[in-house]
Amino acid sequence: MPLDKNDIVARFTARFGQSPRWVIRAPGRVNLIGEHTDYNDGFVMPMAIDRAAWIALRPRDDRRVAVFSVDYNESREFSFDELRTNENAGWIEYLKGTAWSLQDSGLRLTGWEGVLQGDVPLGAGLSSSAALELATARALAAAGSLDWNPAKMALLGQRAENKWVGVNCGIMDQLISAAGQKGHALLIDCRTLDAQPVPFPAGTAVVVLDTSTRRGLVDSAYNERRSQCEAAAKFFGVKALRDVTMKQFEQMAGGLDVVTRRRALHVISENDRTLRAADAMRRGDAVELGRLMAESHRSLRDDYEVSSDALNAMVECAAAHPACFGARMTGAGFGGCAMALIRADAADDFVAKTAAAYQQKTGHTPAVYVCQATNGAEVV
Ligand code: GLA
Repeated sequence: MPLDKNDIVARFTARFGQSPRWVIRAPGRVNLIGEHTDYNDGFVMPMAIDRAAWIALRPRDDRRVAVFSVDYNESREFSFDELRTNENAGWIEYLKGTAWSLQDSGLRLTGWEGVLQGDVPLGAGLSSSAALELATARALAAAGSLDWNPAKMALLGQRAENKWVGVNCGIMDQLISAAGQKGHALLIDCRTLDAQPVPFPAGTAVVVLDTSTRRGLVDSAYNERRSQCEAAAKFFGVKALRDVTMKQFEQMAGGLDVVTRRRALHVISENDRTLRAADAMRRGDAVELGRLMAESHRSLRDDYEVSSDALNAMVECAAAHPACFGARMTGAGFGGCAMALIRADAADDFVAKTAAAYQQKTGHTPAVYVCQATNGAEVV
């Protein structure tokens, strides 16, 4: 069962002897399609999920933040006047980095204290760090009576991740954690940050397929892919690969080296698939949506080369079930989670059989569960 408001309120009350002034929830995400396109100014279609970072808090009258992490069973605090990175400090760095980013953008911050708890699995490709950044931003906005503009806060969260945590991610994770809409995925144009809610085809469900294998994003492979995309954009003479059509690619790509060509092919075809997937969703066409997801996985596996044996095994196990419309890895890749779109009425059977087949095939014990599309960061 996902955490809910009562859990975090009870934690706060046990520590502080009174109810919190605000309760904040900021979700993790699953990306339906549009992978490794965000940093190419392209299109993504994630949904915010019912796994989130929660903060219960009350204001303080100084410029300090003091937080107890339920998951780590430890307290940490910092002052807005002495913000310095500490590479070994762990989870608190996400809060400090977000405070730094908001303050550096000219916002006036006010202190608070509270309790933090989350149920987005760490390092699984479900954006636990974006959830923590947006929960912190929402808490700072509540305590400081700041305007809440989801796109602006997503950019500030991304800046914390890029400059403070040191991970060179795109905008997708922070934007969906800030702006998610219940019952919908969002088709996001990562150049303009325009986000359109897209409904799910009737009778479908989204399943998270956690391979239980992990590999950090900080890994050089992510940055290497980014540089290859930049090199390809330069070759085509455009700002970002978003600006290259399939037709232009076919005409010119012969001049690229083999690896860069395959990287570019993934990004250009994935942008196209993402737009087509949004159309399929609007028409309620689950079969076409599933087909595009399967194609996306093959492209990530063969051309972008960011999948893994465990992810491929999971996708194969899921796709073999008759209730599955399509399955693919989700997030940066190399480990973590895949996702599937399935017939909702067969969810129990799908979950049991896919988990068993994956375990049999790989020896890893997976976590497989249906998830719901939720709102982005909010005071609940
Ligand atoms: C990670 C990054 C995102 C995005 C995905 C790949 O989740 O944080 O910005 O690049 O990988 O689609």
